[in-house]
Amino acid sequence: MPLLISGSIISPIDKLHYKSLPNAFVYVADDGLIKAIHQLTPTDAPMTEEAFLRKVDHRGELEKLHLAKGEFLIPGLIDTHTHAPQFPNLGAGQEYELLQWLDNVVFPMEANFKDVDFATKAYNRIVERVIDAGTTTCCYYGSLHRDATKELAKIAHKFGQRAFVGKCNMDRKSPPYYIERTEESVPHTKELIKCIRELSPSKDGSPYVYPILTPRFAISTTDKLLEELRDFADSDPTLAIQTHISENPAEVAEVKELFDYLSKPGNPITYAGVYDHFHLLRGNTILAHAVHLEEKELKLIKEREAGISHCPTSNFNLTSGMAKVGDMLDRGIKVGLGTDVGGGFAPSILRTIQDASIAAKVVALTSPIKSPDPDSFASKPLKIATLFWLATLGGAQVCNLEHKIGSLEVGKSFDAIVVDIRNTHRHSHHQEVSPLNPNIWGVGDDLELGLDIRRRNDGEDVDDEEKLKQELDAMLERLMFCGDDRNLRRVYVQGRWIGGTEHRRRD
Ligand code: GUN
Ligand code: FE
Repeated sequence: MPLLISGSIISPIDKLHYKSLPNAFVYVADDGLIKAIHQLTPTDAPMTEEAFLRKVDHRGELEKLHLAKGEFLIPGLIDTHTHAPQFPNLGAGQEYELLQWLDNVVFPMEANFKDVDFATKAYNRIVERVIDAGTTTCCYYGSLHRDATKELAKIAHKFGQRAFVGKCNMDRKSPPYYIERTEESVPHTKELIKCIRELSPSKDGSPYVYPILTPRFAISTTDKLLEELRDFADSDPTLAIQTHISENPAEVAEVKELFDYLSKPGNPITYAGVYDHFHLLRGNTILAHAVHLEEKELKLIKEREAGISHCPTSNFNLTSGMAKVGDMLDRGIKVGLGTDVGGGFAPSILRTIQDASIAAKVVALTSPIKSPDPDSFASKPLKIATLFWLATLGGAQVCNLEHKIGSLEVGKSFDAIVVDIRNTHRHSHHQEVSPLNPNIWGVGDDLELGLDIRRRNDGEDVDDEEKLKQELDAMLERLMFCGDDRNLRRVYVQGRWIGGTEHRRRD
């Protein structure tokens, strides 16, 4: 059934701008695409709901949702890097650096996913949580297991989440209880990809779940396997690829040692150079972390048009370092955000936004030289608009899906979140009132105490439209810095309501 939403909308435009429409209509057609958005302004002739519906040529049934003050619509959040089988580890083993953490914390947990029943139960809970965290598109690493990862893909598909799902390729430097045989790795990967490509498409004919080639990282794959992955990737240029790059200094040193035979006189091999040698660095490659990249690697990544998944929560937590996101943006490298559970201890991209902001501020504090160009990003804190863009449109670019998702625009899929930052929540069936999220000083029943711009503008002549926009901007900032899944009432993918606090799964 088509959907009509009336209320406030916030959507990114580019790295420095987003639009806040305090009073708008959004019409989502049966195929889950946004057919029309109309902004009501005081200067326009007022448009009634009936006139809008006539304009979009609506017929038949209609579902309506009216957003109250304190509620607004944003595009769904995009998590460009997470590990589904590490969710049971959230908050565990947080005192290690990368390589020791993999051996002591990650591999023992991922090995449990050999049991397909266990994996199925766990993945049902995990995907539900990721959806309720507002992630409408998620790039998942599974474990190395083909059958368990098939279940992960089917579960994301069943719930209606947009996802990339891959099984790890790993045939060396992994414990005996959690390693694949080289001969099995690519055949199992092919079987998984076939299974994912057979899942039914969404209502506009495009897939919900995409396969993604997932060599875990350069350390965990033999040359023989990398050669097979190279040939396979060459044979399927539309197949997306995800891997880790340059997360931790000990890791980088080990990669350089293992692949030193690729060095040329005067031109030592780099981490990115290894992936490039095996044809794994291309326009649909997603590289997680990218903390310690060298100049020539940044140039290579830009040249190949690969994207970066910035995972600041994880990069702080595993003492990996701060990625130079501003510099990457100045170079025109694609960047999105990743939670990297369980290196990151939170499944929510809202948390990642907060850490991306802090990471940029730490980089700024430790980099005295800054460009006077106001449009440059390097060594400066990230603006609200940039953080919002990274979590949405930036992620969409990294996934090469920016034509379809990442902002609320006519012709794009309705992948969106109904946000609620009111101070209190009135339970519908009785009159009990409870705090929605005590971290947010949001919009209250009591205007005097709530977030209300009028109280901060006394004496100033701001017209109503401008006031409402400023209020909405303040709401977005509060959501981004203090919000969590309690503030996400409804999560939609392709027009289908799949999660959020108000979803019937909760009953
Ligand atoms: N490098 C190789 N595997 C992993 C992983 O599971 N998490 C992180 N953060 N880095 C990795
Ligand atoms: Fe990771």
